[in-house]
Amino acid sequence: MLLLIPMKPVGIDDIAIYVPPLYIDFKDFAEARKIDPSKLEFGIGIKKMAIVDADQDPACMAANACLRLMQKNDLKPSDIGRLYVATESGLDESKAMNSYVIGMLEQIYGQGSFEHCGGIECKFACVSGSYALYDNTNWIRCDEHNGKYAIVVVSDVAKYDIGSSGEYTQGAGAVAMLIKEEPRLLAFDQKVTSTVISNEHDFYRPFARSTPIVNGHYSNLAYLIYVKKAMLMYKQKAIETGLIKLRQDESIIDHIDLLAMHLPYSKMGKNALAFLLRHEWRNLPKWKQILAKIGMEEPKPPEGMGTIEAILSDKEFMKKDEEFRRRFMETEEYKQVFESKLASSLKASEIIGNLYTGSLYMGFRSEIEYEYRKGKDLAGLRVGFASYGSGCSAMAFSGVIQDRYKEVVSRMDLEREIGERRRISMEEYEQLHRGLRSVEERIVSKSKEFVLVSIGKRGEGFREYTFHN
Ligand code: HMG
Repeated sequence: MLLLIPMKPVGIDDIAIYVPPLYIDFKDFAEARKIDPSKLEFGIGIKKMAIVDADQDPACMAANACLRLMQKNDLKPSDIGRLYVATESGLDESKAMNSYVIGMLEQIYGQGSFEHCGGIECKFACVSGSYALYDNTNWIRCDEHNGKYAIVVVSDVAKYDIGSSGEYTQGAGAVAMLIKEEPRLLAFDQKVTSTVISNEHDFYRPFARSTPIVNGHYSNLAYLIYVKKAMLMYKQKAIETGLIKLRQDESIIDHIDLLAMHLPYSKMGKNALAFLLRHEWRNLPKWKQILAKIGMEEPKPPEGMGTIEAILSDKEFMKKDEEFRRRFMETEEYKQVFESKLASSLKASEIIGNLYTGSLYMGFRSEIEYEYRKGKDLAGLRVGFASYGSGCSAMAFSGVIQDRYKEVVSRMDLEREIGERRRISMEEYEQLHRGLRSVEERIVSKSKEFVLVSIGKRGEGFREYTFHN
């Protein structure tokens, strides 16, 4: 007789973050680039953009986040079976960033202490961290893990050309997540994860370039369209598996208590929520009353207008659609969903900027901390994740906050964990951006963290790191 043992929940047990100690203030940036500061503060939603110092890179940020995660949970290397690094700021065409991260951790835990561990560097723009989480969750679910845990660390430096419109959507940082059975924080829902993939030219970084080629407005629309497709697929799976049951006048968003979305900049989250709600609510009875409040018909793209280029080039449609979205975002119905399900996740983005792979997870971390601070009981709430990576792929999935979440969330303090930061001048920022400072010419000296000490001493391009006590 086959004995069916119920599967234990698997998900995120704890999270640790690392944010570099330098930032640009939006007012300094606006003055230097002759932009209205209101555009940055309200149009983009950025106040402070995190910038890496001359002795930092994505590998040492990833190692710093992993070390914090291990230390705060008293983990030993023997507890960890897999360490995955997801990044689009790769340092090498061949050597995985994982090996640098392991090398740094072994400076603390001893040479060879992680040798038993597996892992790869994952790349698919900003979405690869979500694939890494999914794969490692399934590694545990299918009982391949021998009682060990996985660490997934997402780490990136979002860097755009000086003077480009992407420049005000930069940022940097790393988020390390501990994945295990019976997690204290969040268990992923099974059989509902949905993925969409397509060949797009919205954003890509050819070999040898340190900054991407960006089709900004195209990328915004690609994000909206593909995230919506992934969400629709998620909804279908959630209904088919019996995870949710939609009643009349309900949408999938009614069954998602908190939303975490990829945040290239915080305003994108607000706009993406409006896009999703419009598509979800359009066929519901309540839409009529909402339309009456908006005071205009919802513009429809002309028949046959299939491509993103065609939609963007129809200036008249785009203008009307923008006006409709603005008015919709003023309605009580939109504001209520925004405030209760998404607003808390934007707080970190406003003071850090884009973390590429890390943005979604920094947003999730921000959300649970600030929702908890409101005095809300989070146990049993379903979090919906909307992940997007240029190029492109989108992923929608969900998880439920576990009963023991307070053990983790009550210790969260974003400002304290970011630590003291220095506001750098635009001149210092440009020197760092152009790579004009050597590691010895770092702007601040660091303590209790890994830093880059040299490149190329042991062999062309090979990086050396040390732990500063
Ligand atoms: P832009 O073209 O300079 O900005 O760059 P805009 O003119 O579209 O204005 C942005 C917002 O500011 C608009 O509001 C304006 O109305 C408003 P919205 O339409 O969003 O409601 N605004 C003002 N508000 C207040 N006061 C003012 C004012 N002026 C204007 N005075 C763009 C924006 C995002 C295109 C650019 O920054 C960019 O190219 N960024 C990089 C690409 C990007 O972040 N794309 C996002 C989607 S793709 C993605 O998320 C993937 C990514 O993370 C990479 C990956 O996957 O690896 C990027």
